[in-house]
Amino acid sequence: NKIPATLIAGDGIGPEIMASVTTVLDALGAPFVWDHQNAGMGALENQGSALPDATLDSIARTGLVLKGPLTTPVGKGFRSINVTLRQQFDLYANVRPTQTIVPGGRYSNVDLVVIRENVEGLYAAMEHYMRVGDDPEAVAYGAGFNTRAECNRIVRFAFEYAVKNGRKKVTLVHKANILKILSGIFLHEGRRVAAEYEGRIELEERIVDACAMELVIKPENYDVIVTTNLFGDILSDLTAGLVGGLGMAPGANIGEKMAVFEAVHGSAPDIAGKGVANPLALMMAASMMLAHVGRQDLSARLDGGMKQILTTDGIRTRDLGGTATTEDVTQALLRAIH
Ligand code: NAI
Ligand code: MG
Repeated sequence: NKIPATLIAGDGIGPEIMASVTTVLDALGAPFVWDHQNAGMGALENQGSALPDATLDSIARTGLVLKGPLTTPVGKGFRSINVTLRQQFDLYANVRPTQTIVPGGRYSNVDLVVIRENVEGLYAAMEHYMRVGDDPEAVAYGAGFNTRAECNRIVRFAFEYAVKNGRKKVTLVHKANILKILSGIFLHEGRRVAAEYEGRIELEERIVDACAMELVIKPENYDVIVTTNLFGDILSDLTAGLVGGLGMAPGANIGEKMAVFEAVHGSAPDIAGKGVANPLALMMAASMMLAHVGRQDLSARLDGGMKQILTTDGIRTRDLGGTATTEDVTQALLRAIH
């Protein structure tokens, strides 16, 4: 029952945290057979492309990816690799679970999931300057779009996610009071989808700014949040901050036939090569990947191990206020899962 999957170690701290994750997955007996591929800065230097054809072919073949952070080359003509992957493989749902694991933080009972629409909205990059008089860049103009079909698909995804994961409530987050059409289509289509789940999953609606405030004051009130691209980008970083920051935030980009699992954080050039990066965000992404392929048993064991090392064992990397190295976390986790 081996499952072929593409593995991209990534840039910066990528190789360090990926080594930790694959070591632990091997010890767990995870079913993945890795097809190692490159992307990002390293691939640009060695293969002449930040997203080589071999990598795209592998992803198209396996439909399943574990990905380290990629450094997006700075300069004109380079599009974000992550955005390219999302568009190319129609990875329309970005799923970011947030749960309190580290005790002693500001919030003790956070357990929510942000589901962000990943391919439309204001990130469609339809933007340009407009000239006024002598100044060719006097006005910056940007537009976005949301389709009814996509609003339906992402809200349905959120409700199905709630059903499958035993969650009780879905909150539609919008700004339809101001963006009556652009955000209104999401709200109205969302309500139609929600009606199909009436009696099973509770529907709640929030305006995005009020939602941001409430997330900081009482995040325990939230369960599943579904929203459009820009709002989801911002809110999901906010929720990561509720539970210990980027080192604790996993994410999945999911399409009809494809899924890419990754940490939310970037390549952390400031700490790359020092052996101190927190591998747990990528570890949690790997746990989501195990659940995605039907190995909830291994996913639960890995989650239990992470919980144990953070609470009972008190193993924390520097981003969590501790002194543990990446390797310390790996070794502690190997002990915890046995
Ligand atoms: P970043 O997430 O790499 O780093 C922000 C801060 O968080 C830094 O102080 C870093 O040391 C810390 N940090 C991040 N991950 C950590 C971990 N696992 N353990 C401990 N500390 C951690 O964001 P930044 O600096 O804005 O971006 C660096 C590069 O990463 C850029 O080239 C950016 O384009 C890329 N990036 C890639 C992403 C991806 O591939 N999914 C996501 C975000 C950024
Ligand atoms: Mg973001």
